[in-house]
Order: sequence, then structure tokens, then C-alpha cells
Amino acid sequence: MTRDHLTVNRDVWNADAPNYVALAERLWALETPEWGCWGAPEADLHLLPGDMTGMDAIELGCGTAYVSAWMARRGARVTGIDISPAQLATARRMAAAYRTDLTLIEGNAEATGLPDASFDFAISEYGAAIWCPPELWLAEAWRLLRPGGTCVFLGNHPLAIIATPYSGAPCEAVLHRPYRGFTGADWTQAEIDPHGICFNLTFSGWLVLFARLGFAVARYEELYIPDHVTETRAYVPADWGKRYPVEQVWWLTKT
Ligand SMILES: C[S@@+](CC[C@H](N)C(=O)[O-])C[C@H]1O[C@@H](n2cnc3c(N)ncnc32)[C@H](O)[C@@H]1O
Repeated sequence: MTRDHLTVNRDVWNADAPNYVALAERLWALETPEWGCWGAPEADLHLLPGDMTGMDAIELGCGTAYVSAWMARRGARVTGIDISPAQLATARRMAAAYRTDLTLIEGNAEATGLPDASFDFAISEYGAAIWCPPELWLAEAWRLLRPGGTCVFLGNHPLAIIATPYSGAPCEAVLHRPYRGFTGADWTQAEIDPHGICFNLTFSGWLVLFARLGFAVARYEELYIPDHVTETRAYVPADWGKRYPVEQVWWLTKT
């Protein structure tokens, strides 16, 4: 029987949650946010509005909810939704330890059940951004946002996945997968560190989807590995990620 991506990814994240506790503790403790697998500083990227006082914000695929915490500290009323009860257990423990008021929901970011137009700001850092089909979770983000609201998401750059062997070995300066028709990668059968089912699009695929859903692109950044990093991390050798983009960030406005 073929298992759908929701079941696969929930099981993967329930099993992997203990490996993310130390990271959660480090990131909850940060005064200034840093983003993605290589810690891009918020001072450079500005993913979050500096002052979120009075804003309703949602994190789609919140995991251990450190991004939610950063938004709450900026004054937002924050909801985090995640499909993995084990990840949410860490999030709840951290929220209690930091006396941070978050609404944490166990559910699917593609169909939250929350009311239309109830948020000003939606964000995903490696949550729905990579684990949900973009046409589903971005349609849901659009529905949840008020007119003029912002959706920001960060995940793998498509080139980094295209250059990664099917085995799951570190990426190389080789095109291992077709770009035409690219929609992500299924890591469940990888020989090295089998994992979940991830979603992505070609550059034109993203632009066509945003236009169809009613999002305008406010900003786009491609992130490289910083000079000081020398080790292979997240299956990307440092020298690869200094020459090719490893992550991307989209800032969208609901039109
Ligand atoms: C790498 S974490 C990213 C979240 C956060 N930035 C962190 O690192 O803790 C990925 C999260 O996406 C969640 N996720 C995967 N599919 C989901 C879905 N359909 N709906 C909600 N959450 C989902 C997983 O359970 C996991 O907690």
C-alpha cells in the first residue's frame, strides 16, 4: 500500500523529534533570530517585521516553535500548527519554560480548519514550506491571510535538490535530477538517511503558482553557505554551497 505524504511525514517527524530537542533549546534561547541550516542572521534577512505588536501570526509546520516564540517576543498573537505530536511536545515544553503564550495546534498546515482572513502574517521555515505540496499549503496560507497580509517562507533551493544524488549522498556539481517538471524529492527509499517526502518547484513553477493563487512577490533571496563554514552540513559540502545557492526565501503579499 502506498502511504500518502502526510502519514509518511508525520511518522518521520515523530521518530526524529528527539534529535531536534537540543536545536530547539538553542534557538529558543536566541535573542536575535537566525535562519535555515546555516544560521543566516535576521539582521541581514529581515524575515520578520521588527515590531509585530497587535499582529495575528501563524507558523505553518511550526515544529518546536522557536520561530513562533520569536514572533511572540515581537508582540504578535501567535498560532503554530504542526502535524507531529512529538514535535509539539517539545514546543509546549519550551513555551512553558519561557512562559510564552502560544496557541499550538496539532493539525495539517494544508487544511488548518482556522477561519478565513484571520492572520496578518504567515511564515514557514522548513515546515509546510518543504513538507507540503505548495499548491495546497500556499492556498491555505492565502485563505488564512487578510488582504495585504504577508507570507514568508524559507526552504531548500531547487538547485540543491537537483544536484543531490537519489541515494541521499551529499550534493555535487552534477545535475542528478531533471529540472523540467521538478516538484520535489521522495527520500523514503534513499540509501543514506531515508527520510520523508519533500516538495519544491522550478523557479517558473513558483511564479506561476503565486500568480494563480493571488500572491505578489515582494522579495526573493537565494542563500549561500557563509565563508566561515567548512564542514558538510545537511548533506551539502561547504564548498558546494559557497558556489551554488542552498536555500531560498520568498516574501509574498496577498493581493
Ligand atoms: C524541520 S521542522 C521545521 C519547523 C521548525 N522551523 C523547526 O525546525 O522545528 C519540519 C516540521 O514540519 C512539520 N510538518 C510536516 N508536514 C506537515 C503538515 N502537513 N502540516 C503541519 N506540519 C507539518 C513536521 O512535523 C516538522 O515538525
